[in-house]
Amino acid sequence: MLQFSGAAIIPALSGLVHSGRSISSLHCHGRYRHLLLRPATVKVMGNSNDQWLLARSPLEGWPAEGDFRFQTVSTPEPAADQLLTRTIYLSLDPYQWGRRRSGTEKPGDVCHGRTVSQVVSSRRPDYAEGDYLFNTNGWQQYGLTGAGIDPFGYMHPRKLDPALAPISTAVGVMGMLGLTAYSGLIVQCDPQPGETVVVSAASGGVGQVAGQLAKIRGCRVVGITSSAEKCEFVTGELGFDAVVSHLKDDLPERLAASCPDGIDVYFENVGGRVYEAVLPLLNRDSRITLCGMISQYGNEAGASPGEVWMDMGRATFEAQRVEAHSLFVGNYVDDYQDRFFGEMTDWLRDGLIVYREDVWRGLKQAPVAFAAMLSGGNFGKTLVAVSDDPTRAVSVDRTQPSTDSQLHRNLFRNCR
Ligand SMILES: NC(=O)c1ccc[n+]([C@@H]2O[C@H](COP(=O)([O-])OP(=O)(O)OC[C@H]3O[C@@H](n4cnc5c(N)ncnc54)[C@H](OP(=O)(O)O)[C@@H]3O)[C@@H](O)[C@H]2O)c1
Repeated sequence: MLQFSGAAIIPALSGLVHSGRSISSLHCHGRYRHLLLRPATVKVMGNSNDQWLLARSPLEGWPAEGDFRFQTVSTPEPAADQLLTRTIYLSLDPYQWGRRRSGTEKPGDVCHGRTVSQVVSSRRPDYAEGDYLFNTNGWQQYGLTGAGIDPFGYMHPRKLDPALAPISTAVGVMGMLGLTAYSGLIVQCDPQPGETVVVSAASGGVGQVAGQLAKIRGCRVVGITSSAEKCEFVTGELGFDAVVSHLKDDLPERLAASCPDGIDVYFENVGGRVYEAVLPLLNRDSRITLCGMISQYGNEAGASPGEVWMDMGRATFEAQRVEAHSLFVGNYVDDYQDRFFGEMTDWLRDGLIVYREDVWRGLKQAPVAFAAMLSGGNFGKTLVAVSDDPTRAVSVDRTQPSTDSQLHRNLFRNCR
């Protein structure tokens, strides 16, 4: 992990291009902290707004060149009770592909996405220029928030305090992604000390949090991921007790060897052959969170992946009295989000949860990063840094896209 001394912060704050990789732990450290937390004057760059639109429908199984169209339009003017915000981070999530394939998102629409943004111009009394917020600008540099703008149901805009948490985490470990892991693992499956918990897509955004939550609960945790590097990360950095690669032909045997007492809780992110390997190992009264089935998101029309998944598991579920919960994080926002934020802040501050972000710099990269994430080309939570993050001195050179995956540990230690 790269660390910068306080002196390195100043050039970044004054708008000079910082050519290094993004940094993880300076934003709330030391005597320059007050400078980092002071919102800079926010300028619209040249009054133009780069956007990615959905280009066509229907879509093939997996993202392909031609599914997305890049355009540059004028920056919109906020109307009464609206904000104009610049996108700092764009979150790329598997559900976005579902919206596109199902036709919810139409050709010509700006691609949907959760974002971390900064207010450029406010016509609302509760937001001032320079404030940071979670919102849903989508795949574009600037967007409107407020009256008449669809917040996509449960994705309510909220103001962010960079002194409480790094702002990128509002679309990650301290956002819907973390809440997904929490709702599925803690609320639905309620793992007990000593139980065996298996998490698939263990090195990804949701998986890394779910597994660490199970460790906090005192469980034996087994991760499933792909490459040797990711396997090493899952046991070495995340602290899981064991890991197996789904790329190996003998996955079922390896998983069985890693779970000598069977499986009590399975956090399902993947489906397919990973799920097949899990089924015979499920103990009596075990629990499953069906969080996602990413291996099936490119299936051609036919039986829904959820139905196929239930059909495959039914006999085992009945024989072993397995509780299978399907998960939709939107159902947990009203009742659990505040509690989750409180507990997660403590875990992060105490170093009990670490997390990895995979940051692609430059909006132009969004389609490539999105396709990579869906096929395992990501390493951690996938984000696009669309514009500079003054709180972390992440700068974006639009002419030179780059990527940067790194682990964040104890970021919160020096925050209030
Ligand atoms: N229910 C909800 O409300 C909710 C909310 C958020 C997310 N989710 C679900 O949670 C899951 C994880 O989402 P995320 O955003 O955290 O993504 P992610 O795990 O960061 O990225 C996706 C990962 O899926 C794995 N993968 C892709 N294709 C695979 C295949 N054929 N077989 C096995 N693994 C494969 C890859 O990891 P490897 O390198 O390990 O193969 C890849 O890194 C997804 O299924 C998503 O739909 C559900």
